[in-house]
Amino acid sequence: MSLKWDDVKKLAAKYDKKNFLGEYLKWGERFQKALEKTPSLGISYKTLYVVGMGGSGIVGDILRDYLGMEMDIRVFKYTRLPSCVGKGDLVLAVSFSGNTIETLSSVSDALSKGADVIGITTGGKLLELSEKKGFNVIRVEKALAPRAALPQLIATALKIILGEKAVEELMKIADVLRDEASEYSLDTRDNKAFKLAYYIWGRLPILYADEGYLSILHRAKSSLNENAKINAYYQTFPEGYHNEVEAFKEIIDPVAYPIIFKDHGDNLEPFIKHLDDLEMDYLIIDLVGESRIEKILRAILLTDVASIYLAYLRKKDPFEIDVINKLKKMRG
Ligand code: PA5
Repeated sequence: MSLKWDDVKKLAAKYDKKNFLGEYLKWGERFQKALEKTPSLGISYKTLYVVGMGGSGIVGDILRDYLGMEMDIRVFKYTRLPSCVGKGDLVLAVSFSGNTIETLSSVSDALSKGADVIGITTGGKLLELSEKKGFNVIRVEKALAPRAALPQLIATALKIILGEKAVEELMKIADVLRDEASEYSLDTRDNKAFKLAYYIWGRLPILYADEGYLSILHRAKSSLNENAKINAYYQTFPEGYHNEVEAFKEIIDPVAYPIIFKDHGDNLEPFIKHLDDLEMDYLIIDLVGESRIEKILRAILLTDVASIYLAYLRKKDPFEIDVINKLKKMRG
């Protein structure tokens, strides 16, 4: 690696004044605390709808990837819900700030349709609405930004849905996240997250995984957008075999960099073989963990921290999201 580690530390000191990286190093303890603190509500429902946007909306994507084959979970990142929503359904509304217009509008729609609502938030208008309308809200620990609060948001949602019986298994993931995060800090020279950032630097990442890991792709794209301020695109497989692969007839864009999140027995092998035949440069990230949720959260932690190192390399502040804030204001 041509860059000295001391230079990376200097970039961090200059461009990450708020120590946004430090937020991600606390993921294990935040996940654990949220599991301990969230009450077991003993809920039951016909269909679970999860609403929320951006760094809060990813909770719905993760829940669907983890539980969607056994439970009826539908994720809506919109301003309203379908007409089939009604009595007996539960709408889980996730908004870190509690002030996101799409989420608030979906909650009002859910209430008008007679569905039950549970909010997950730090406060804001969602909390006010819950006091006025009398639905449950679980308040989560604050963080520097919604995307940094993923552990408390997802742990709270998991405890609400799965109850006390899931806690023992989930606590083991808290330990793994704690250990893994410590390996990604600035104290570990050329660590795995930094190396990933270094590979991506100057390229256009195109992210691939099996359809069952859409949440990893969407989160990685979002973190590269928000933290590193770069474009990124993604595609799941097997759907990609019906369109995406044709773009790899030959290497036409040397800047495009496929990053493949790979699990045992997934659908990606023929695609990887094709990239090898083309002699295309690509990267494989093996998904590791004993359960799907562990694999998802470890992959997200790695790529999130990588997106922060990439921000340093690009001389950007990973915390600032000026354009998102400007457009939020314009939209009211
Ligand atoms: O990461 C971010 O800051 C955004 O993606 C927000 O999560 C998004 O705008 C929604 O806001 P909130 O999470 O407060 O509902």
